[in-house]
Amino acid sequence: MQKADAEKLLAQARQGHIPQHVAVIMDGNGRWAAGKGLSRIKGHQAGAESIRRIITAARKLGLRYLTLYAFSTENWKRPQAEVSGLFRLMSKFLKKETADMLKNDIRLMTIGDLSRIPEGPRASLEESIRRTAECRSLTVLVALNYGARQEIAAACEKLLRSGLKDAPLQPEDIEKHLDTAGVPDPELMIRTSGEQRLSNFLLWQLSYAELYFTETLWPDFGDAHLYEAVMEFQKRERRFGGL
Ligand code: IPE
Ligand code: IPE
Ligand code: MG
Repeated sequence: MQKADAEKLLAQARQGHIPQHVAVIMDGNGRWAAGKGLSRIKGHQAGAESIRRIITAARKLGLRYLTLYAFSTENWKRPQAEVSGLFRLMSKFLKKETADMLKNDIRLMTIGDLSRIPEGPRASLEESIRRTAECRSLTVLVALNYGARQEIAAACEKLLRSGLKDAPLQPEDIEKHLDTAGVPDPELMIRTSGEQRLSNFLLWQLSYAELYFTETLWPDFGDAHLYEAVMEFQKRERRFGGL
């Protein structure tokens, strides 16, 4: 897509309702690489470039929150070399991008259980989170070692430990113990690469999200694709159970 076309789509999208929060399952790095006869890690490298592009596009669009599924609790099943390659890439990405995030008033946060993330990458993450803590234009939530079922179970455990107040338990009681406490639910969820499933992503928070699936592989997903997804979202009629 040409730059001018993307700008046109951006202007068009901005005429409609801009969702506050968009969540993305960034899938298809491996297939993108295989299609080009490259190693899977090359696919993840290209995927990291897409992350950079999508953060810029989200800021131009005026999103407040962007959640990116980067590593699931199930992704530990992958070969050790791929897993360590992914975390190495993440550290490199943070070292390169944090200054730009600061400059653009973009805050970095994570959801998921960081305790299992190797120490080096975890330290880079914590540093970027700390440095961008005052930024407010856009918050990027990276889901790392994230699984929605684990998140909900952990929230219930925190509730139990805090001494359950009188029943009946309300959804809000659980909500405020989720990793996303204080963040509005995503209005739009995008999954790339043609798969049409949630893979343990934000099961609670996506209750009323509009779901958008595209065949485009994550490394090929650019600014114009995000604007197109938002325009598709703008055409949907959201009812929330009413009429
Ligand atoms: C998404 O791409 C990135 C991660 C899950 C870390 P994949 O690595 O799942 O790519 P495919 O699905 O094998 O093509
Ligand atoms: C979901 O993709 C997780 C991330 C994008 C980080 P997967 O590629 O791991 O999901 P499945 O295995 O196809 O369900
Ligand atoms: Mg995949």
